[in-house]
Amino acid sequence: MIRLGVNIDHVATIRQARRTYEPDPVAAAILATLAGADGITAHLREDRRHIQDRDLHRLRDAVHTRFNFECAAYDEILAIAVKLKPDEATLVPEKREELTTEGGLDVAGQLDTIRAATARLRDAGIVVSLFIDSNLHQVDAAVTVGAQAIEFHTGTYADATTVLEREGELAKLRSATSHALDRGLKVHMGHGLNYQNVAAIVRIPGVEELNIGHSIISRAVLVGMDRAVRDMKEAMCEHFPNPRK
Ligand code: PXP
Repeated sequence: MIRLGVNIDHVATIRQARRTYEPDPVAAAILATLAGADGITAHLREDRRHIQDRDLHRLRDAVHTRFNFECAAYDEILAIAVKLKPDEATLVPEKREELTTEGGLDVAGQLDTIRAATARLRDAGIVVSLFIDSNLHQVDAAVTVGAQAIEFHTGTYADATTVLEREGELAKLRSATSHALDRGLKVHMGHGLNYQNVAAIVRIPGVEELNIGHSIISRAVLVGMDRAVRDMKEAMCEHFPNPRK
């Protein structure tokens, strides 16, 4: 069964619009878990635009499934991760002006930095995943720096506007997944996934985890977190199983 990690950053985005105490991302994490989420993902950005430091400690206490901490390889943030001890840390690139994470991490272009960050997290007992594009060169670099998992960026697939483009992106994701599995990496995917486009992703053999935020929180605003998470689990299960052939 593919795990669903629900990214609750946008609950904090709404709260930060008023700098108040509601809605509480921890409450959202608990409701998502009760509805069947297999894990909770939160991203502490350097600019603290949504999740705040105090949220992390409360989340760490409240999440008993799998807590995936997304972060950039900055010294200050890595020190927080090491203290927090999430089950998993996903290293992402971060730019101040971006609306959301744009593109995967260039692991091959900064081997030393990512190797050091990976070692620091792994030494603290944290499973390390690298958020990368579906590019074989980046997969090889992820192996070189000692990551245990990679999360393929599905944003380009999600943004595809023609069938040809979409099929091309799926083919890249399929071959990169196979390449990663052959090298002993666990394969996760995320970014831009929604109730419609998740089906083709779930059919890729060997994918272990999806991290989904915006579409679930958007639906939750209208129909509630419980229904939004259950609907996503249903959309994912319809196309299961996806064991590697
Ligand atoms: N995975 C990673 C590494 C991300 O940075 C994000 C966005 O924070 C997601 C998954 C979730 O993306 P979305 O909000 O588009 O579902």
